[in-house]
Amino acid sequence: SHHPAICYRPIQPSDLEVLERIHAEIFPIRYESEFFQSVVHERDIVSWAAVDRSRPNGHSDELIGFVTARIAMAKEAGIGDLLRYDPSKPDQTLVYILTLGVVETYRNLGIARSLIRQVIKYASSVPTCRAVYLHVISYNVPAIHLYKKMSFKCIRRLQGFYLINGQHYDSFLFVYYVNGG
Ligand code: ACO
Repeated sequence: SHHPAICYRPIQPSDLEVLERIHAEIFPIRYESEFFQSVVHERDIVSWAAVDRSRPNGHSDELIGFVTARIAMAKEAGIGDLLRYDPSKPDQTLVYILTLGVVETYRNLGIARSLIRQVIKYASSVPTCRAVYLHVISYNVPAIHLYKKMSFKCIRRLQGFYLINGQHYDSFLFVYYVNGG
């Protein structure tokens, strides 16, 4: 088989269609087209894409993985107590990971790990940022293993956080502190 040549780059408007398709394929939750527009136009969202430069026939710049995240104010995130939120520093921020995904044929190659590394590096570079955090559905074993392996701390279980096809599922809240958060 061939050797993938994985590269990381920003998400751009031409990624819209593939980004929407992969989200629909791998997530049980539907996202609004507004969300995808915000991602590709970098409106309040930061994101990174993974591509395989070794793919032939015009696919060498096509998304095979992505991570999307939003900057949140620590005081509004509702988890200030767990982030040692300091009221004397009202401008403290957090990076909230919205979606992370890798297409099936490219899994277990360390791509998700690299995408999360990019987010942590970015968050660390923002002086006001205190942590990266995210929610994951309680049955998602691969993702939970990934976050634990990357030293995220599981700080909460939220009962019935997700509603999918009329059924409630719990979520875990994972946090990775940066800048002494
Ligand atoms: N079973 C157990 N552990 C796993 C698995 C698995 N199937 N897949 C990944 N891991 C863990 C391992 O600890 C692995 O480290 P190791 O290889 O040293 O053992 C670590 O994660 C890193 O694995 P990567 O190869 O970087 O992960 P991958 O690129 O395969 O992507 C992901 C993992 C994103 C969870 C992928 O399976 C996926 O896209 N799943 C569907 C979408 C999804 O669940 N996204 C996350 C939802 S949460 C959110 O979006 C905020």
